[in-house]
Amino acid sequence: MTTPWPYPFWIAHRGAGKLAPENTLAAFRLGAQYGYRMFECDAKLSADGVPFLLHDATLERTTNGHGTGGDLPLGALAQLDAGSWHSRAWAGEAVPTLEALARFCIANGYFLNIEIKPTPGHEEHTGRVVAQTAARLWQGHAVPPLLSSFKPDALAGAQATAEHLPRALLLDTLWDGWATVAQQLGCVAIVCNHALWDAAQVAQVKALGMHTLSYTVNDEWAAQRLIDLGTDGIITDRVDLFCPAR
Ligand code: G3P
Ligand code: MG
Repeated sequence: MTTPWPYPFWIAHRGAGKLAPENTLAAFRLGAQYGYRMFECDAKLSADGVPFLLHDATLERTTNGHGTGGDLPLGALAQLDAGSWHSRAWAGEAVPTLEALARFCIANGYFLNIEIKPTPGHEEHTGRVVAQTAARLWQGHAVPPLLSSFKPDALAGAQATAEHLPRALLLDTLWDGWATVAQQLGCVAIVCNHALWDAAQVAQVKALGMHTLSYTVNDEWAAQRLIDLGTDGIITDRVDLFCPAR
């Protein structure tokens, strides 16, 4: 049986897509100004084991730092500028901890999808620590964050540590055995590259009792196709285009 789905349909990717520097608190605040009530973020571990927000394994694209983000302790990550790469309006934005974003979401009643994006080689441990941290931060709150990952080992770590937190398997291709793995991981949703959904794929996932979400949908025709297919959620960069009123 499919579990009840407490999350909004529309999810702002990395905070506010490309309108603000991804995975900074400023981006989530901007996404909220556009009416979004649920956000996707990318979380990995600092060298001293603290979950923080960064998409890439390396720092160069979205900060003024160098090398592998997960090689730095939190104190060094906190010194970085994660805004100037985008535009000078955002200069000085910090690399946030997952905890800082959790405070923002919880204080405002926003929902969160935490994509566990481990530094390569640290999949299981990252899943464990992110889940443990999320369980602590959201303890006593009605709707926990949705934990997702492309990495089954990361979801296995989350499952082992905080089984009660909902999990979703991210798919960029329909690799052999994905459905069995998602079931073994107790996933409540599949989050697909949106082009992978068709009526048969939606029916298969729903028959498994899982919800059907898509990333990253930035065109009206693509969003309408997913709505017509009866899918359950869309992650978008285009917070300026799609009104999140459902
Ligand atoms: O979580 C959905 C989406 O963010 C997955 O891809 O590379 O944008 O993190 P990516
Ligand atoms: Mg992501």
